[in-house]
Amino acid sequence: MRLIIPLCITTFSFSQEWFITNYEYGKMLYNNPRGISCAKCHGKKAQGKIIASYKIKKYGKIITKTIKAPNIQNITYEQLKTKIFPKKKILSIMPQYDYLTTNEVEALYLYLQAQKDKK
Ligand code: HEC
Repeated sequence: MRLIIPLCITTFSFSQEWFITNYEYGKMLYNNPRGISCAKCHGKKAQGKIIASYKIKKYGKIITKTIKAPNIQNITYEQLKTKIFPKKKILSIMPQYDYLTTNEVEALYLYLQAQKDKK
C-alpha cells in the first residue's frame, strides 16, 4: 500500500503535464523547434526583429546596415508551409526546419495567428 500511493500520484501528475493545448504546443515549438528558436530571430511575439547590424563606409560616409527577420504574425498557412518545406533549397540566413511534422507546423501556425498585432 505504501508503495502504491506515491506511484499513483506520479502517474497522475505526469498525465496532467502532458495535457497541453495546441496553442501551448505551438508556443513550445516556436521557442524550441528542436533547433534554433524562432523567437531568437523573429522575436518573442513573431513581430520581427533586427538580427544584426554592421557599419560600412560608402562614398566616404559611414552607414549602418541591418539584417532583419520579418514579422511573421500575418503569414498564411501556405506561406509557412512553403517556408518550412521548400520545393527548392534556397540560401537563407534562416536555418532549415524540414524535419518538423505537419502537425507541428499546424501548431506553429496556430501560435503565430494568436500573435497578430502584438508588439
Ligand atoms: C537565424 C535566424 C532565423 C531563425 C532562427 C528563424 N528564422 Fe524565419 N526568417 C529569417 C529571415 C532572415 C527571413 C527572411 C529571409 C528568408 O525568407 O529566408 C525569415 C523568413 C521566414 C518566413 C517567411 C516570411 C515571409 O514573409 O514570407 C517564415 C514563415 C519564417 N521565417 C518562419 C520561421 C519559423 C516558424 C521559425 C522557427 C521554426 C524561424 N522562422 C526561424 C530568420 C530566421
